[in-house]
Amino acid sequence: MDASANEIPFRFVAKTSDVEPGKNRCFQVEDRNVLLIHLPNGTFRAVENQCSHEKKPLEGGRVRNGKIVCPHHGANFDLQTGKAMSAPAVLPIHVYPVKVEGDEVMVQLVDPPKKPKNPFAIPGVTGF
Ligand code: FES
Repeated sequence: MDASANEIPFRFVAKTSDVEPGKNRCFQVEDRNVLLIHLPNGTFRAVENQCSHEKKPLEGGRVRNGKIVCPHHGANFDLQTGKAMSAPAVLPIHVYPVKVEGDEVMVQLVDPPKKPKNPFAIPGVTGF
């Protein structure tokens, strides 16, 4: 996150009671599909509701040990960093900064970083 991210306001997503602990739910915030995850320890995480593998929704994926499991092909993502922790995903998912004020969960709609290079890409071959 760069210094300009500090200037981006936090936006209301949901009430803390809107997502049960251990569950996740997608909310439309401006033009983004934000997946709000309520961890069993009571804290919240927010990620773009899109798996980096085949761009399918992550909503409904199991949440365990700070990770979410894509409900489609089982890739795991770290909810703190967005890093892909298992195949078939290689690239990270986008993570939004979250804060809770009273009973309201807010996210900062920072843009995703530039797409990282695919470590398995073959020079001159597209389609990854
Ligand atoms: S779409 Fe998520 S693992 Fe394939």
